[in-house]
Amino acid sequence: MGRIIAIANQKGGVGKTTTAINLAACLAEKGKHVLAIDMDPQGNMTSGFGIDKNQNEYSIYDAMCDECNIGECMIVNVIKNLNLIPASRELAGAEVDFLDTPDKQYILKNLITGIRKKFDFIIIDCPPALGILTVNSMTAADTVIVPIQCEFYALDGLSQLIYTINLIRKKLNKNLEIEGVVFTMYDARTNLSLQVVENVKDNLDQIIYKTIVPRNVRLAEAPSYGLPINLYDSKSAGAVAYRELADEVINNKLYL
Ligand SMILES: Nc1ncnc2c1ncn2[C@@H]1O[C@H](COP(=O)(O)OP(=O)(O)OP(=O)(O)O)[C@@H](O)[C@H]1O
Ligand SMILES: [Mg+2]
Repeated sequence: MGRIIAIANQKGGVGKTTTAINLAACLAEKGKHVLAIDMDPQGNMTSGFGIDKNQNEYSIYDAMCDECNIGECMIVNVIKNLNLIPASRELAGAEVDFLDTPDKQYILKNLITGIRKKFDFIIIDCPPALGILTVNSMTAADTVIVPIQCEFYALDGLSQLIYTINLIRKKLNKNLEIEGVVFTMYDARTNLSLQVVENVKDNLDQIIYKTIVPRNVRLAEAPSYGLPINLYDSKSAGAVAYRELADEVINNKLYL
């Protein structure tokens, strides 16, 4: 039975998509069967895998609107062992479009329940908001990975996120767990990054991954080539870090 992981933080630009793409790709590289789902209207995960978000017949939005079934919007083997369900701009209207849909928080869960057994991991990239798309993602998920950028305001908004996760656990998905927190964009040249990591460790009662993703220009370049980091620059510090993170995720004690 596949483990469904939502990558979420309502803060923008903290490394959600970079983590979603590269964790998914490194899991696939290790032989796991992975489904990546782009729930962000920005479609950065879609383009990061080299898929033009305007060229697909169907996206996750169409499946959510019952315009297609989940298989029809899936792009098979965008890289070896990895299928992608792309986003499209229409997702931006989801808040209003699904206003009157019965069980609107469960749309994604209902779509993927039937296919989860085909995959080892389903990785969902969430938008930078705590709206209907993130709620759908967390309701469908087993766990949440929270990327935290190593910057001064790292802890801002984190209590809101944890509050939301607890609320979803109470009302919509009683089994939801925080899988862990991962630090991103760590800059070894500044004291600030180190201070942020120490500060968050002292203040956060969550599992923190040993892997700390460094600031690495190759990670920032890779999406413009439509490639995950392991295929863009396999030996880069970014690739090494996301492989380590994939190992930690695979070896999560809860699931062994
Ligand atoms: N470890 C890193 N090293 C260098 N650049 C990075 C790293 N992680 C992310 N970036 C860059 O930082 C920017 C924001 O990252 P990303 O898109 O992953 O964040 P996000 O949380 O998904 O943003 P949004 O909230 O808009 O969805 C991107 O330009 C990305 O390439
Ligand atoms: Mg993103």
